[in-house]
Amino acid sequence: MLTSKLVEKKAKLGVIGLGYVGLPLCVEFARAGYRVTGIDKDARKVEKLNAGESYIQDVPTESLREIMKAGLFTATTDFGVLRELDTVDICVPTPLRKTKDPDISYVAAAVEEIEKYVHPGMLIILDSTTYPGTTDELILTRLERTGLHVGRDFYLAFSPERVDPGNPDWNTKNIPKVVGGVTPACTEHAALLYRLTLGPVVPVSSTRVAEMVKLLENTFRSVNIGLVNELALMCDRMGIDVWEVIDAAATKPFGFMRFYPGPGLGGHCIPIDPFYLSWKAKESGFEARFIELAGQINGSMPYYVASKVADCLNDIGKPVRGANVLVLGVAYKQDIDDIRESPALDVMKLLMEKGGRVSYSDPHVPSLTLNGSEMRSVPATPSELSRHDCLVITTAHSAFDYGAIVATGVPVVDARNALKDHAAPHVRKI
Ligand SMILES: NC(=O)c1ccc[n+]([C@@H]2O[C@H](COP(=O)([O-])OP(=O)(O)OC[C@H]3O[C@@H](n4cnc5c(N)ncnc54)[C@H](O)[C@@H]3O)[C@@H](O)[C@H]2O)c1
Repeated sequence: MLTSKLVEKKAKLGVIGLGYVGLPLCVEFARAGYRVTGIDKDARKVEKLNAGESYIQDVPTESLREIMKAGLFTATTDFGVLRELDTVDICVPTPLRKTKDPDISYVAAAVEEIEKYVHPGMLIILDSTTYPGTTDELILTRLERTGLHVGRDFYLAFSPERVDPGNPDWNTKNIPKVVGGVTPACTEHAALLYRLTLGPVVPVSSTRVAEMVKLLENTFRSVNIGLVNELALMCDRMGIDVWEVIDAAATKPFGFMRFYPGPGLGGHCIPIDPFYLSWKAKESGFEARFIELAGQINGSMPYYVASKVADCLNDIGKPVRGANVLVLGVAYKQDIDDIRESPALDVMKLLMEKGGRVSYSDPHVPSLTLNGSEMRSVPATPSELSRHDCLVITTAHSAFDYGAIVATGVPVVDARNALKDHAAPHVRKI
């Protein structure tokens, strides 16, 4: 029985997709004393992991080696291991297509493999962010084709991952895990797994509620960031410092939550997930207007930052064409190495389109490919900074020396208020 296997730590756990979400989950499962198999279709990642090398910043190589030494973790590209596994968490990507429609093909591919090996007593949990209805419509339908019956022969649940890479306080282990099963037995088994391995569990009444919880959380962020970005555009026209306004408003002890403007949204969650919801809502004839509006405003921010760079260069009598511009920080947020959907890349592309000679500096991203060409990070040393006509702060990494940046006297566009303690006439905030 799955319950006793879980309680006695005899259950063999599996995770499909060993990225920012799946790998930390494997580590927590193993730390709780379970044998864990990670499955990924990327053979290079699997090879690295089996050699005891982590490629995820939140999983130190030492932690990986500890669980491997204890014989509790292995990685494989072979889905045949699912035959032996008692539980499997699906942590594969859920991106958007170019048309902003959900690309659910990674989940579908993982489910196709599970369908081949699902067996009585197995627990399957989808952790990838997706639209309400995915677990029922896509996964349940396929797994029941095997003749096995949900809630009796196998268990199926949705449990959104809420990890915030780089967050020193909140991680896979201590963030409460929302769980919604197809049947009450499904919820109970998934909740038991997480209670035994992670922290607090929040059971909800269905998979659709659990799916919607994650989309509410990320839409909440997208819409509030959209609001504050619009306020930044408005304050700029009105000659008001939006950052000062936010700081003062945040002294209200209740009813206000601080959000900051910036160069736009980045990462694999906030710019993408709300569109999963608006796409699905359309099926019910509902237009998700806040989501679309926030998407438009947030999506316009890289253009705004690029226009500020043009203004800065104009002040020193230079066109963007031929100007040397250094972008400081390409990761989508501070102190991490993830550049997925990063608005800094959009700012760079826009300036390049106008003929700017753009380079970047990011201590966490040694190289990247933009418009088909490889670029390498340059060091943010005083001599390198001074070689440029304009500096653009798109990510506020703690490794940057902001005093030194201002001291160069090179015009700066500061999209993160990183220079708040270094006011100078050659610094423009957004
Ligand atoms: N990154 C975050 O901060 C975060 C936070 C919360 C939720 N999420 C959600 O979690 C999910 C995973 O995101 P991520 O950031 O970990 O993605 P990721 O790209 O870092 O990792 C996904 C992994 O899945 C593998 N993969 C893809 N298709 C596969 C398949 N069919 N079989 C086996 N492996 C496959 C990839 O090779 C990759 O290693 C997404 O739905 C995302 O929205 C991400």
